[in-house]
Amino acid sequence: MKSISLKEVRSMNLEPLKVRSLGGYIFHSSDKVYKLFRTNDKDIILNKKRKIEILSVMRDYAHAFLPIEKIEDGPFWNRTLKGYTTDYRSLGIRMDSLGLDPLRSEDYLRALINASKHLKEIHERSEEIVLGDATFENIMVYPDEEGKYTETKFIDFDSIQIGELKCDAVSALLYYYFFVKRFSLNFSYLTPDMDKISHLLSFFYLIFGDDIFSIKPREFDQLSEQLNTLYRLRPTFYYLRQCCRIPDVPYLHQVIDVNDAAVLSKMLRNGVKLY
Ligand SMILES: Nc1ncnc2c1ncn2[C@@H]1O[C@H](COP(=O)(O)OP(=O)(O)OP(=O)(O)O)[C@@H](O)[C@H]1O
Ligand SMILES: [Mg+2]
Repeated sequence: MKSISLKEVRSMNLEPLKVRSLGGYIFHSSDKVYKLFRTNDKDIILNKKRKIEILSVMRDYAHAFLPIEKIEDGPFWNRTLKGYTTDYRSLGIRMDSLGLDPLRSEDYLRALINASKHLKEIHERSEEIVLGDATFENIMVYPDEEGKYTETKFIDFDSIQIGELKCDAVSALLYYYFFVKRFSLNFSYLTPDMDKISHLLSFFYLIFGDDIFSIKPREFDQLSEQLNTLYRLRPTFYYLRQCCRIPDVPYLHQVIDVNDAAVLSKMLRNGVKLY
């Protein structure tokens, strides 16, 4: 894997990406993103380094921005990993900030379906990957050939779980869910189900603007009379709230009904507050 020095990165005239990032400092050039870690913890850095090296050779996977080069500091006999680069594409919008817009409901649902299919593909790979931080904050959406925002790419691969290598960040929604349910969250062994749950919790958050425990069942039932996707998710919604062990849930693409776009647009156009 190619390496570039931190000094070289500092000498470039890079634009900071205007984002709030807990894990790093993010900059970009016309074609590359430079992510510099905040942490100096040796174990975390070593863990990230191993993951980045494995991911950088996974060139057959097109639906994620995988690490390309290491950014390192120090003399060649004692280099420390400081960050990594990935591809940059302009016109991207983060899935969670795409916003529910009456003109874009169909694009939104299609983007969610695409991202969810890609999540399933990732889970089925031989590398045994669990994203861990699988919220909509880590999905970028890009315009397709028709200019519709439906193409998706996952980001933030330095925190994932891959084989024996531990995940070092899970989504806040999943963390809160485990906390309320009093399930123990073992960072050494996350399962693909946890990513599916994160996607569902993000979807409920998008529609209701709240975590799953604060959504009123009456409001859920009312809206599920109008949106088939929610109707299909009704048993999952109640199961997630009530079950006493980590539930097996569907992938989003298995329940999203694109025909909901027309209903959703109409509701948004009429100023109906979804939550
Ligand atoms: N390839 C990219 N293209 C465009 N924007 C990006 C890209 N990579 C990261 N970003 C932006 O930078 C933000 C932070 O990136 P990333 O999720 O990799 O870092 P993080 O520090 O782990 O963030 P957090 O802890 O907040 O999830 C993203 O939410 C996104 O807005
Ligand atoms: Mg992130």
